[in-house]
Amino acid sequence: MSAHRIVVDLGERSYPVLVGHGASTDLLSLVPSDVERVAVVTDPTIPFSVNLDRPHVVVHVHGGEDFKTLTSIQTITSAFARHGITRRDLVIAVGGGLITDVAGFAAAVWHRGTRVLHVPTTLVGMVDAAIGGKTAVNLPEGKNLVGAFWQPVAVVADLDALATLPEREIRCGLGEVAKYHFLAGDDLLSLPLDARVARCVAIKADIVSSDETESGRRMLLNYGHTLAHAIETCGNHELAHGEAVAVGLLFAARLAHDLGRVGSERVEHHERVIRQEYGLADESVMARIRDLDVDELLTVMARDKKATRGLTFVLDGADGPDIVHDVDPLQVRGTLERFLA
Ligand SMILES: NC(=O)c1ccc[n+]([C@@H]2O[C@H](COP(=O)([O-])OP(=O)(O)OC[C@H]3O[C@@H](n4cnc5c(N)ncnc54)[C@H](O)[C@@H]3O)[C@@H](O)[C@H]2O)c1
Ligand SMILES: [Zn+2]
Repeated sequence: MSAHRIVVDLGERSYPVLVGHGASTDLLSLVPSDVERVAVVTDPTIPFSVNLDRPHVVVHVHGGEDFKTLTSIQTITSAFARHGITRRDLVIAVGGGLITDVAGFAAAVWHRGTRVLHVPTTLVGMVDAAIGGKTAVNLPEGKNLVGAFWQPVAVVADLDALATLPEREIRCGLGEVAKYHFLAGDDLLSLPLDARVARCVAIKADIVSSDETESGRRMLLNYGHTLAHAIETCGNHELAHGEAVAVGLLFAARLAHDLGRVGSERVEHHERVIRQEYGLADESVMARIRDLDVDELLTVMARDKKATRGLTFVLDGADGPDIVHDVDPLQVRGTLERFLA
């Protein structure tokens, strides 16, 4: 089985990402040779597992954002302690973005840093969460507030895992794929699934390599996310992240147009790609967003943790999407009111 192999280039901490059907059969070749023991962190309800021929322990975590907490970190690291996992050993996270974020953070803090290998089992995990080394858990005060940058030693995206993924989760992944479509200007849907996931990984890997800790260019990955985060918060997370991102991309295109950055054909391009090609942001999604309060959406956008200087958006322009700070809140309000009318 030949898998795509993409490298996230971070000097001595560079690592490979394998993408392909059956890619997890190559997992053992990616386990560093000095590793003695392995701790697999997973959610037992996920119908995907990996075969390991060496001694290992399995640590179970509950799925669901409610379990993306410091309590879960305590549970996982206590299990590491009971099983005698040391800094020389390896954590393997098997699951969606939730598991790779939580297990990644546990690895980052276990003995001040223990190696982790991610095996994402969702489309979001494969094209986004497992790549780039961001790990985190939530607080009651907000999502992903406690975390660390902790790069994995490898990522194995076995596309066979997607066979059991519910359709809504696939749609969520497509929201992020659409984001890459606009960031790189690629017609990703025309590619077979393996090449499509591999291309998304390559786009993210390139951005992460150039700005690991998000001091600038990595913020591009936030395309469509400023409004999306506000929609999730104000709508009590009834709409899933990827569904909200699709709407956020459409809104960002309108805002770029209203600010004179692009012509109406770019707005139409976003509409066509998101609605017709990806089948996202349909009327049932839009109806739920129209129920939200514009003032509340604006307030939440203004306190987005990535907005260091007023309202920050990633906005399309002549040279493609770019990071734009200090967007006039009145302009945002006007565009949002027209968008939701
Ligand atoms: N670190 C990052 O850069 C980054 C990027 C994007 C998202 N995230 C985080 O990732 C999380 C979202 O990830 P997600 O969308 O993968 O959701 P998730 O991990 O919650 O998984 C979604 C659902 O799919 C189930 N599932 C997982 N794999 C399956 C499979 N193969 N078959 C059937 N069901 C399966 C899970 O049990 C869960 O119910 C959020 O917590 C988000 O903050 C992190
Ligand atoms: Zn996202």
